[in-house]
Amino acid sequence: MNIGIPRETEPGETRVAASPDTVKQMIGKGLTVRIESHAGEHSAWPDAAYTQAGAEIVKRADLFAQSDVIFTAQPPDDATLDMLRSGTVVVGMLSPLSAPERIEKWASAGLTTLALELLPRITRAQSMDVLSSQSNVAGYKAVLVAANHYPRMFPMMMTAAGTVTPAKVLVLGGGVAGLQAIATSKRLGAVVTGYDVRPEVGEQVASLGGRFICVEQEQRAEASVYAKEMADDYKQKEQALLATHVPLNDMVITTALIPGRPAPRLIDEEMVRSMRPGSVIVDLASATGGNCALTRPGEVIEAHGVTIVGTLNLAAGIPADASHLFARNLVNFIFPMLNEQGELMLNTEDELVAGCLVTRGGEIVHPRFSGKEG
Ligand code: NAI
Repeated sequence: MNIGIPRETEPGETRVAASPDTVKQMIGKGLTVRIESHAGEHSAWPDAAYTQAGAEIVKRADLFAQSDVIFTAQPPDDATLDMLRSGTVVVGMLSPLSAPERIEKWASAGLTTLALELLPRITRAQSMDVLSSQSNVAGYKAVLVAANHYPRMFPMMMTAAGTVTPAKVLVLGGGVAGLQAIATSKRLGAVVTGYDVRPEVGEQVASLGGRFICVEQEQRAEASVYAKEMADDYKQKEQALLATHVPLNDMVITTALIPGRPAPRLIDEEMVRSMRPGSVIVDLASATGGNCALTRPGEVIEAHGVTIVGTLNLAAGIPADASHLFARNLVNFIFPMLNEQGELMLNTEDELVAGCLVTRGGEIVHPRFSGKEG
């Protein structure tokens, strides 16, 4: 079976869907791997690193002409769709929820598409979970970006010239990205506070050395790995809590998401105004509308003396490790589906396959997009 790894074409996308390490693993399974020339350039993997691992370097058109399966970090654009052969299997981060209109095009092109963002979050899927691997990188990068914009240092320093007080960081949302932001801020020496609607996150924040704040009342998020939209009464208390804590902090890193819905609005303009000049907000939820009312997706702005970072795709800011982990997710997903001849067998009885399979041979099969969801 022929696996193809194109160079990503989306502006700002620096990642690549295979590493020399995963190329070796695929070749060990009897697969043929072709990589588009310069696909790994941002991840510090020159073409030679892939050829040494056993891949063939080819031109883009040849890649699509010769591949049975394509791995990708972004959904195919129109020019790529024109090159993809009918029957090709496309696996990767395909953003089916953010732009469902693309799915018709995948079906018309006769593609079989597996969107790893839709992977059910069960224990067996952890090693394949692209949302986790990329959120982890994004949470780390968010702190570095905040540090770069912040006009002061993170740790407390007692020097002969005077004492520097430690920075205070508030992290909103304690999922994978938020917990990594807390851990990274702590490592840099900040005093860290975390907030989440899910009370069970409190222990995790404490174990990383952070202080947890929460809304004191009966109605909390149900025990679930995912948060739900909260009632108005809760939201009012949440606003009061944040209005107290936001001005006490120098940096706020927001990571709160509700799957399939716009990001919850947590910071209003008044809270931004209440922060001291030089403060920084990094909004990791900017792609789904932002947790801060003033965030402009894709931009870095200044408002009321506060820098607000709405940069999209922060994981792409650490290309080599983001790619390394993403490439591992892909092979961990694909390998259990290979038969002894090294061919891909799509078993739709398997909840992992059924969960990700959006189109199959020209048909939209995922109940969420085919209109057949009950
Ligand atoms: P996410 O990216 O969907 O959301 C980020 C965080 O925002 C969540 O912790 C959520 O509770 C929080 N949030 C939502 N609304 C909020 C609000 N109004 N205020 C404050 N916080 C709010 O979450 P992510 O990173 O995908 O992780 C969710 C959970 O899933 C975690 O507990 C994680 O450990 C678990 N997980 C399980 C996996 C598995 O078993 N395969 C894989 C990955 C994650």
